[in-house]
Amino acid sequence: MRLAHITDLHVERTPKLADLLGKRALGAVNLYVLGRSHHFSRAVQEALPAAVLATNPDRILCTGDLTATATDAEFTAAKALLEPLRTLPFDCIPGNHDVYTDESVGRYARHFGDTSVRCIAAGPVALVLVDVCRPDWLSRGRATAADLVALDAALAGAGPCILGLHYPLRDRRGAPYGPAGRALENAAEVEAVIEKHLNILAILHGHEHHGYTTRIPGGPVIHNPGSSGYAFLPRQHRAAHFNVYEVDGTGIVGVERYAWTGERFEPEAGGAYASGG
Ligand SMILES: [Fe+2]
Ligand SMILES: [Fe+2]
Repeated sequence: MRLAHITDLHVERTPKLADLLGKRALGAVNLYVLGRSHHFSRAVQEALPAAVLATNPDRILCTGDLTATATDAEFTAAKALLEPLRTLPFDCIPGNHDVYTDESVGRYARHFGDTSVRCIAAGPVALVLVDVCRPDWLSRGRATAADLVALDAALAGAGPCILGLHYPLRDRRGAPYGPAGRALENAAEVEAVIEKHLNILAILHGHEHHGYTTRIPGGPVIHNPGSSGYAFLPRQHRAAHFNVYEVDGTGIVGVERYAWTGERFEPEAGGAYASGG
């Protein structure tokens, strides 16, 4: 089974004045005054679906941050953009940017569906997906007590599985992910649940826009392709990526990582993660 993994598109549409309250006003300053909007490229985002389909995946996983500030206009644009990928089984979880403000909670679900902990049959494995994102001024995530119980139950019944979430558990060196802001607050509690289940073959996530592979020491391999909507800024070592995994009942047996070269997505020169980010 070939599983394509995209993440962190950050589709942006200039917010209306009425949207500019609270955190979103700060976000707009960040995006449009301080220039973060130039970190992401509409041309790259628009080229992504055809490039993913050209790799012949059997199904698609998106690990969140579809939007920049979770407005209706951004969700509508992201959904239209990804429509070609929905001809295949397409699973998705929100990122912290998709629950940007209290008023945006529920908007992701209206556009992209279920956000509960769930276990999906995916060929030789199951995909177990958990949403740990919530509105937070410091962009922190948190798995609630109910999430941890539901995750434990889903993993117990899953058989061989791949776990997907938005936040990293580990940094690129395999150490607990930081900084405290922008991270999953109780990653250690999530890992305590993971440790109980030897059927987890791999963990897939996004959030950190430069991709890497690592592992929980003594535990499952972890993959983060890096942002699939990043602008092409080679001098700053920025390019968009997505991954395609060859999966059998033993786990991920092959990784293809595709990089935006300025004109198109191509297999990463030197092999997956050879560029270092
Ligand atoms: Fe992101
Ligand atoms: Fe994120």
